[in-house]
Amino acid sequence: QMSAMMMAVCFQNMTQKETLALTLAMRDSGDVLDLSGISGVKTDKHSTGGVGDKTSIVLTPLVASVGCKVAKMSGRGLGHTGGTIDKLESFPGFQTSLTTEEFIKQIEDIGIALIGQTKDLAPADKKLYALRDVTATVDQLSLISSSIMSKKLASGADAIVLDVKCGSGAFMKDYDAAVALAKEMVKIGKNAGRKMSALITDMDQPLGYAVGNTLEVMEAIDTLNGHGPADFTELVMALGSRMVLLSGLAKDEESAESLLKEAIRSGKALDRLAAFVAAQGGNPDYVYHPERFETSTHTYDFCAENDGFISSIRCDSIGNVSLLLGGGRRVKTDSIDLSVGLVFDKKVGDPIKAGERIAKVFYNDHKKFTEALPVLKEAVTISSEPVQKNKIVLARFD
Ligand code: URA
Repeated sequence: QMSAMMMAVCFQNMTQKETLALTLAMRDSGDVLDLSGISGVKTDKHSTGGVGDKTSIVLTPLVASVGCKVAKMSGRGLGHTGGTIDKLESFPGFQTSLTTEEFIKQIEDIGIALIGQTKDLAPADKKLYALRDVTATVDQLSLISSSIMSKKLASGADAIVLDVKCGSGAFMKDYDAAVALAKEMVKIGKNAGRKMSALITDMDQPLGYAVGNTLEVMEAIDTLNGHGPADFTELVMALGSRMVLLSGLAKDEESAESLLKEAIRSGKALDRLAAFVAAQGGNPDYVYHPERFETSTHTYDFCAENDGFISSIRCDSIGNVSLLLGGGRRVKTDSIDLSVGLVFDKKVGDPIKAGERIAKVFYNDHKKFTEALPVLKEAVTISSEPVQKNKIVLARFD
């Protein structure tokens, strides 16, 4: 019957009222976190997933350091996309199995706590998703929006900022589909009484320069030190200022951004990452000494064969390169190698000379590297004509 219903939704669509009803029913099928014991506005951020997306590792301590209360539920990587929990496990000892009481206390104490998604969070969504998967009904806007939002609403935050990715490495490949998804999720959230904001952001090339668990954490630390890649820093500022504004901690965009910039300049945001890592059992020394992270045993310089301009870095393929090197999972039970991945020297639109490095590849296993290299070569193209740089933030819906 549920398969039949999913199929009917694909043919007939759902009204806003129906979409909200399905979302709330899925939310209420399991645990709903009650964060009312925590003072102030509780915020959350959700990304629809991408390659090189280490945003939460910078964003959450950054906004917590200016007073936001962040209740974060994150996942692990699967296929070509990574997961925040895997990345944070680069800090020796880091763990996410907090009790609800510990989770709430930690948010009160340091403004930020992170747990994994429990099996009791929106269990109806899990069952429906499995059905959608085998009945070819995954790709329906109301079903996608209600699926994502049921979990977000069950996580208990009052204000939710959505980062809807758009491009070759994203769930939504084209702009119009990403806009439709963002608008639908904002509507559901508002109808459920939450403060909402959504950004449509570029995922046509990896975010920042680093792809791979530990390499991304190192780039996140650089960013909290004020030396992050321009696109990534811009994205963090854009999402962060929405979180600050929805939390009522600044009067406008400009003052929200200056609060965040000052938190980076003063080292307050970096210190908050250290406090967060320590609170979750990890070793905070690595925040101040990232050279201590375990890196791969081998590296390879991937260089340009001709002069020109970088015209594409296919995001899904780069995610697969990281997967082939051992940095990702094909199935949920795979173990992963945190130290492998790539660090690009260039972004789309950058000029390049023959022999100049495009990316440094980090690997431990020669066989895996030999499988990954042809995929990397295919993923990057160089044009003889100048190429426009991608914008990172494409649109916003409140
Ligand atoms: N992510 C989800 O959680 N649900 C969907 O339906 C699609 C992506």
